[in-house]
Amino acid sequence: MKEDIRRIKDAAIAEIDAAPGPDALESIRIKYLGRKGIITELFKKMSSVPAEERPHLGSLINEVKDEVTCALASKTKAVSGYEEEHAEKIDVTLPGVPVRAGKIHPLTKTIDEICGLFISLGFRVVEGPEIETEHYNFETLNIPLEHPSRDAFDTFYLSREKRYLLRSHTSPVQTRFMEKNSPPFSIIVPGKVFRPDATDASHSFMFHQVEGLVVGEKVRFSDLKGILEIFARQMFGRNTRMRFRPSFFPFTEPSAEVDISCILCGGREFTAKRCSMCGGKGWLEILGAGMVNPKVFEAVGYDTERVTGFAFGMGVERIAILKYGITDIRLFFENDIRFLRQF
Ligand code: PHE
Repeated sequence: MKEDIRRIKDAAIAEIDAAPGPDALESIRIKYLGRKGIITELFKKMSSVPAEERPHLGSLINEVKDEVTCALASKTKAVSGYEEEHAEKIDVTLPGVPVRAGKIHPLTKTIDEICGLFISLGFRVVEGPEIETEHYNFETLNIPLEHPSRDAFDTFYLSREKRYLLRSHTSPVQTRFMEKNSPPFSIIVPGKVFRPDATDASHSFMFHQVEGLVVGEKVRFSDLKGILEIFARQMFGRNTRMRFRPSFFPFTEPSAEVDISCILCGGREFTAKRCSMCGGKGWLEILGAGMVNPKVFEAVGYDTERVTGFAFGMGVERIAILKYGITDIRLFFENDIRFLRQF
């Protein structure tokens, strides 16, 4: 009988070792430890064993039972652990790890949109330096150094003696370009400009402008109006209206400030009293413009009898603020992902 018990144990352990999964292990448990299992049956056979051998045989069968139970338990654990681990690795229904892609900054987007529009009208993109001289920032543009009109272009100086400064507008690129090129041409000039303004919701010491300059024979004020009207409609919608108000810039004559009809209330001047965008005025100022002052042509050696031209300059932040309904210029420069992700 002892031999039988040992063989049964060896067979059970071998079967457990070879079992491929939980189902096979459950059948083995029933086969050996179930109500009519092989080991269970051994206990029943005890009655036919001589009384003096019973305690010894009884404890031997109990040992085998414990051993098989333990082997089953540890193998069950191993098999199910393996399955769980693998189930996780191949679960194709789990959502992937999102890739945080970068986005184009709203100001870059606006500059690209403005430039793209003028490129489609035959303009060429030109750039100039952010560090300028008084010569280009003021003098070639008919802004005399000791003249009150300088105040409108309050400036960061880098050094007094050398007269270097951070450009206060993109207009110096007009004369830089004209010195090296002959008409006819149409250019736009995007770039950063700097003015020592106290920062608040609508002022920043650094902002962006896009300058336009068209020079040739018989370039007229009506051409300026036509080009800007196409720009305004494409940028702010087909029904946008424009208005030119007389203004003054030393480098254009005549000069105008250009407004578009309010993009929120549609510019219905008498019903828009409470409009949050235009404050009831019905109009939004978007840029400065005018016919190039002959004094600017003289500064670059153009024949003022032959050529005429127009120029305009707009603030990019202002355009983006109107287009996207942004309430504070500082949002552009704080690098808050929650703001930037919206564009
Ligand atoms: N340079 C002017 C400014 O910064 C804008 C402007 C450009 C006006 C060209 C007329 C013509 O305010």
